[in-house]
Amino acid sequence: MAHADAPDLDAGRAGSRRVWLPARPARLRPARLPARLPALLRRRPPARWWWQRALVTGASGGIGAEAAARLIDRGVAVVLVARRREPLEALAERARARGVAVEVLPADLAEAEGLARVEARLADAAAPVDLLVNNAGFGTYGPLVDADPDVEAAEVAVNVTAVLRLTRAALPGMVARGRGTVLNVSSVAGSMPQPYAATYAATKAWVSSFTHALVEELRGTGVTATALAPGYTPTEFHADAGLTRASVPAPLWTDAATVAAAGLEAAAAGRAWVVPGWHFRVAAALAGLLPPAVTRRVVAAGMRQRLADPHW
Ligand SMILES: NC(=O)c1ccc[n+]([C@@H]2O[C@H](COP(=O)([O-])OP(=O)(O)OC[C@H]3O[C@@H](n4cnc5c(N)ncnc54)[C@H](OP(=O)(O)O)[C@@H]3O)[C@@H](O)[C@H]2O)c1
Repeated sequence: MAHADAPDLDAGRAGSRRVWLPARPARLRPARLPARLPALLRRRPPARWWWQRALVTGASGGIGAEAAARLIDRGVAVVLVARRREPLEALAERARARGVAVEVLPADLAEAEGLARVEARLADAAAPVDLLVNNAGFGTYGPLVDADPDVEAAEVAVNVTAVLRLTRAALPGMVARGRGTVLNVSSVAGSMPQPYAATYAATKAWVSSFTHALVEELRGTGVTATALAPGYTPTEFHADAGLTRASVPAPLWTDAATVAAAGLEAAAAGRAWVVPGWHFRVAAALAGLLPPAVTRRVVAAGMRQRLADPHW
């Protein structure tokens, strides 16, 4: 029976009997969605880039070079790290032409000596670094049983040990100054186990987990940590890993400039995690929901097909 003082209930029918259903919560009412869409789709205003000086590893190409170029263009002094000096010098020219302070610091982050020099630079309180971009990294592909153990170990050294040691070197000064930013370049590949790229995906899973943990450790210190997890990005990364880009459809690629900008914007806003590109946001979210027994089988099937393809 209808009740006169039940205004929050929607009327419905079950057979010939009139029944009362609880009202939908207001925020789920479809009629309200069109009115709310502009607010939902509106981009957040860009955060202020307050940094005075940034150290970028892997600045000689790809995402790191794009990040460094963006920082230089915004007047942020840069310390450029990678093994190859020439591309770093080209970026340094760009900085000098704009009157931006620049240091070129060639170093092999897989080697203790090179890593120690970059750690020392980060710990130098006389010229503090307030943005550390841990971007240098590389990947290896193929069955582990055939892999060169020294190359796999170097991959762990650059993708994991260097990220750990450089972050550890930068943090004391940042915390003492009450502000600082660490931007770690992870990968969507770190969101799931990747048979035939086992080492690479595991190193990136470490970077993501490490960064998320730091976000909480640093809460209240004025220092923030951000993990940038790109999907396919056209850089030297694939050729260096012995891959071509032919088997990946064009719409799945996001250019390095867009990826770098997304990482820097998220870091400036103090966000913990950013995945550039909606398709990779969906992939990373799905990978987080599915058990490893499912994701590892799906990835293994795809990778076997790709490894058999001579054009990959
Ligand atoms: N491209 C992608 O699809 C993709 C997707 C997800 C995540 N990522 C990640 O994004 C980051 C940047 O990669 P990218 O795509 O821009 O590739 P890239 O163009 O190959 O750049 C890699 C950078 O790392 C540096 N590097 C490699 N080994 C080094 C070492 N031992 N010591 C010092 N520097 C070293 C390289 O410089 P030198 O050779 O001059 O030393 C280069 O500047 C990596 O961490 C990668 O894992 C890439």
